[in-house]
Amino acid sequence: MKGRDDAPAVPTFSEAQLAEVHRLQALYPDPQGALLPALHLAQEAFGYISLETEEYVAGLFNLSPAHVHEVVTFYTLYFRERPGRHVVAVCHNLSCHLAGAPAIIAHLKTRLGVAPGETTADGRVTLLSVECLCACEAAPMMQVDDRYELNLTPAKVDQILGGLA
Ligand code: FES
Repeated sequence: MKGRDDAPAVPTFSEAQLAEVHRLQALYPDPQGALLPALHLAQEAFGYISLETEEYVAGLFNLSPAHVHEVVTFYTLYFRERPGRHVVAVCHNLSCHLAGAPAIIAHLKTRLGVAPGETTADGRVTLLSVECLCACEAAPMMQVDDRYELNLTPAKVDQILGGLA
């Protein structure tokens, strides 16, 4: 049976994934210390963190689903809906703001036709506006999937977007 957006109605880790959660939990004096990596594992396994996934992970940590929901909604890189094929996360924090991030974000909004937090209709790109990504010396910057793009200009952004399938 499938739930919304084709996510399993009752998400369940494989035995290997469950063993990894238990391994992570054993690394910390309090097993709750492994909650963030376990949520990353869940996102990798299920595509995003649904309410059902929050409840499932909460059960693995003897936490309330509300506690896990607070964690998931605090961090921008946990997705509560299936993201696009590429995730473009633009830093809007102080150094990047002063170096032109508002213009970069405005340019991306125009080029992609979406606001931060939204995904293009073709599912190609999810646009995010995020806090400092620790590359302040190369502001303005953004993360595209797993790589950093530094010292952005609108022309450089166009070039980067053109390279995304
Ligand atoms: S303020 Fe943008 S990377 Fe730090």
